[in-house]
Amino acid sequence: MYSEELDLIRAQIRQRSQRGEFHLRNAEVGTPVFLVHNEGLTLVLRGILAACREPTHCLTDITTLSSVTMPDIVIETRRERVEELLARYREQIGIDFDGYRNHVYRCVTYAMHFLSGSPDYQQLVETAFVYHDIGLWTDHELAYLEPSEAVALADNERYGWGLDADALRGAIHWHHKVFRYKGEHQEVIEACRKADWIDASKGWIRKGMSRTAIAKVESTFPNCGFHKSLMRLARDYGGSTLIGGWKVTRGIVKW
Ligand SMILES: [Fe+2]
Repeated sequence: MYSEELDLIRAQIRQRSQRGEFHLRNAEVGTPVFLVHNEGLTLVLRGILAACREPTHCLTDITTLSSVTMPDIVIETRRERVEELLARYREQIGIDFDGYRNHVYRCVTYAMHFLSGSPDYQQLVETAFVYHDIGLWTDHELAYLEPSEAVALADNERYGWGLDADALRGAIHWHHKVFRYKGEHQEVIEACRKADWIDASKGWIRKGMSRTAIAKVESTFPNCGFHKSLMRLARDYGGSTLIGGWKVTRGIVKW
């Protein structure tokens, strides 16, 4: 199993166990641990490495899993907040609107799956994705991360949403980061980063997401020419596809 798949499973189990959806049985050092889902699903985990006082802490030390069942991806076909926020920029986004909207929906769906659907993150994730590429249309910029962050933070103030500004900025700022983000708001920033990589690569990069889940999400929210729009914008703003592509790469990729 790839380490990113293991990461995803660990995160899902940790969050669900913290929410009381699982309880631990036979949690002794050095023995297999059985996690029992409240509805009777049993997950058998091995590799608890060290003594730990809190069972949920043990879960961070899982190294191998002998059997695990992942929950299906939840697809919400209409998100009121996404619709409301995007509507303000409909005219500016113009002919690219349907494509961008569906890209936002796909990314939100992936990110929320990484976050086990946690309602604590929903507003932030939906907002971050509505704004994450918006600088392409509001500022006509190929280095669009910083302009997108600025628009998001300004609207957060103007409309009094009260979202954590650092988390919102971070989710946008790091969404093209090549390597794992470590630091404050890591859980949500990582979920958004992985989600955008999956969609930007049209599922070529999966970040632990199953092929079936990606296919389901892609067929629910069709591409509507989104990736072509990106090529066109790179060419229009950059002077040519090649120079534009280079400018995009230099402007938006973070290591
Ligand atoms: Fe994007």
